[in-house]
Amino acid sequence: MNDRTNEFHGLESVDGRAVIGRRIVWHETTASTNDDARRSADADEPEGLVVIADGQTAGRGRMSRSWISPPGLDLLFSVVLRPEPVDLPKMPLLAGLAVARTLDAFTSEHVTLKWPNDVRVTDRKISGTLAESGRSAAGHYAVVGTGVNVNLDATAHPEIAEIATSLRTLNGKSGSRREVMRRLLAEMDQLYTAPGGMSALVSEWSGRLETIGREVEVNWGVGSARGVAEGVDDDGRLLLRDHDGQLHTLDAGEVTLQTIPR
Ligand code: BTN
Repeated sequence: MNDRTNEFHGLESVDGRAVIGRRIVWHETTASTNDDARRSADADEPEGLVVIADGQTAGRGRMSRSWISPPGLDLLFSVVLRPEPVDLPKMPLLAGLAVARTLDAFTSEHVTLKWPNDVRVTDRKISGTLAESGRSAAGHYAVVGTGVNVNLDATAHPEIAEIATSLRTLNGKSGSRREVMRRLLAEMDQLYTAPGGMSALVSEWSGRLETIGREVEVNWGVGSARGVAEGVDDDGRLLLRDHDGQLHTLDAGEVTLQTIPR
């Protein structure tokens, strides 16, 4: 453990969390925390494990993209969860909403979600989640992997220079990964263990979506459509009305979405 990974030491025992973070492992460097968490889940790891990395050498994003993960700057972590199968599709929503709630406390700017779970501030992406599911002898699992740009200087990375931001860029000073992580784990745990189940989650999450009511273009590999994002269903799938009046129900795992400027 070096001084930087040490930042996360002792997080298991704070905030009285019920599930998420009851076991935390951290790596100075790893390929991808999602891969590490999946290996643990495949070996029947109980839910609640959080794998944190100081840096990743092969961080993965949605749609086979990579996730820029230099050491020492940002939050890069994955959580193993074992929800009821009916709640599996809500796991990426949970992460997006928990990040948005958390960032409310660390910036005075408006924090929004772009469907399905990009978290955006000042029209730039500050966080994304890659959720994957699988099954081990212990049952179904979800691995929810989230990156939050805390201290990244996006301008140093031409491929994201115009589209990404970080807390440091917004606030003009370094942010504490530990403090952001501490709050984020508490928010995730609270959403995951809410007494009424996860139905309120979809409603709060959809209320933050900047995408609803906007003209968007979606691409799902073999096809694409342009139209108005009318809303989301109970699992967070996007309801898109195209210009021929046809309604498409779009699953987050399969599409990319472009918001057309107003
Ligand atoms: C996206 O917006 O495309 C999703 C990005 C998810 C990145 C995180 S960083 C921690 C975890 N490990 C990975 O390899 N990916 C996720």
